[in-house]
Amino acid sequence: MDKIEWDNGLSVGIELIDEQHKMLIQRLYEVSEAIEMVQGEGAIAKTLDFLIDYANFHFSAEEKCMAEENYPGLDYQKAKHEEFINSLRRFEQDFKEDGATPSLANHIKDFLFNWLIRHIKDVDHKFGEFLNKKES
Ligand SMILES: [Fe+2]
Repeated sequence: MDKIEWDNGLSVGIELIDEQHKMLIQRLYEVSEAIEMVQGEGAIAKTLDFLIDYANFHFSAEEKCMAEENYPGLDYQKAKHEEFINSLRRFEQDFKEDGATPSLANHIKDFLFNWLIRHIKDVDHKFGEFLNKKES
């Protein structure tokens, strides 16, 4: 899969969150690479664990930041984050049951990556705008 490069279009204007998004994208990419390079199941499982751990860490950090700023979109964000974590868990379950199938690799690209990029550009970006307005 082509590597998704970070560009300013993905910036939400908050450095800490941008850095975490870069890491999240990187970890997702590592899972897809492990699958495409047909690494062993153990290696793939490890990248997947890293990804899920990091996604949980990032979403909590982001939600904490939003709560501290009394962000009105927090509940919506929480619901969306939960949706993504559930997708990752389903993905992990499919991997455990069927191994690294081509359809699993496609799922990363067609669903997980697109979801994340859209979420950053639309949903997280709104939080950046909110903070910006508040501070100006
Ligand atoms: Fe985020």
